[in-house]
Amino acid sequence: MGVPPHRALSKLSKQYGPIIHLKLGEVSSIVISSREIAKKVLTVNDLAIADRPESIGMETLWYDYKDLAFSPYNEHWKQMRKICIMEILSNKNVRSYGHIRHDDISKLLERRDNGELVSENILDVLLRKQQSEDLDVPITDDNIKAIIFDMFTAGSETSSTTFNWLMTELMRNPQVTAKAQAEIREAFKGKKTIEESDIQKLKYLKLVIKENLRVHPAVTILPRACREECEVDGYTIPYKAKVAVNIWALGRDPQYWEEPETFKPERFENSSLDFLGNNYEYIPFGAGSRFCPGMNFGLANIEVPLAQLLYHFDWKLPHGMNSDDLDMSEMPGVSVQRKNKLYVIATPYNPPIEG
Ligand code: HEM
Repeated sequence: MGVPPHRALSKLSKQYGPIIHLKLGEVSSIVISSREIAKKVLTVNDLAIADRPESIGMETLWYDYKDLAFSPYNEHWKQMRKICIMEILSNKNVRSYGHIRHDDISKLLERRDNGELVSENILDVLLRKQQSEDLDVPITDDNIKAIIFDMFTAGSETSSTTFNWLMTELMRNPQVTAKAQAEIREAFKGKKTIEESDIQKLKYLKLVIKENLRVHPAVTILPRACREECEVDGYTIPYKAKVAVNIWALGRDPQYWEEPETFKPERFENSSLDFLGNNYEYIPFGAGSRFCPGMNFGLANIEVPLAQLLYHFDWKLPHGMNSDDLDMSEMPGVSVQRKNKLYVIATPYNPPIEG
């Protein structure tokens, strides 16, 4: 009681092993906490566990699961996933939203209100698809509303949660902040502001983001459910059972990580571990058939503003507070946010401009 589920389940797995069967009411929940079993479940059994757990709340909010994220594995899900990947969240689209990110950040830097323009583009795409003749499953207005709701919830909450934890870790680890800031200020020396295309130069910043997603994955537990009975590691997983892969526990397991509680972006230097769901001790965007389709969009939403904020401001904690005093309490939810607000003091830094 009172402990966030990823922590409680991690504690249970230390006592009972990497695959646990919990019976919460009538529903079986299978909790996975080892890289080896996570790999089996998300490869061999991926399609057998490709449903989402049922929930009356989600069913109501998402128009009877007419969206993508909470939809069961079916023809509607396949079609919507294809549309979202190809027409809304592709690399080309993510790049084309760059001017909106740029405008929003400029407004933030100048401390003005910011507007939101992306929804018009998404709506245009979905309305166009609704009219097209080659659909496998008709797209209803409820589908469109549910997908837009997905994009806002799956997209904004994960990004803002990640951003808050990032700022927290930067405040707790001033040496990491100094190194990231030195990289940015050196790379953009003489420039008034940073362009999106320049972000690729920032190798250390990317490691900081990677490390943050290891210790604070926005989605701590991968929510899957069994479409059909299947076998995992000699155990039978019953039809309809919830399958919960504990991403958070995998990212902090001392079997896979040296000093797992230490925030050390350098651990990813010269490492082949990436975000793509092939290394099962590190799966912040999931793995397999339901892998996050918004990964590139999510990363762009974090990298660009973070680089801007570190370039244009110096950051410190309010008077008298030192990094050990930072409250790290978590608030469980669809994504695991900070329980209490983070207060930081920003001091503008005026980069020397060339010319
Ligand atoms: C830091 C940012 C993000 C993180 C850490 C994240 C993480 C995840 C994870 C762990 C899953 C579950 C994958 C699985 O079940 O295997 C997921 C699914 C999903 N994400 Fe993301 N996500 C992020 C950003 C975004 C963005 C920006 C969007 C869209 C605008 C998005 C849209 C979705 C959707 C639609 C699904 C459901 C896919 C399906 O069920 O087929 N995510 N995400």
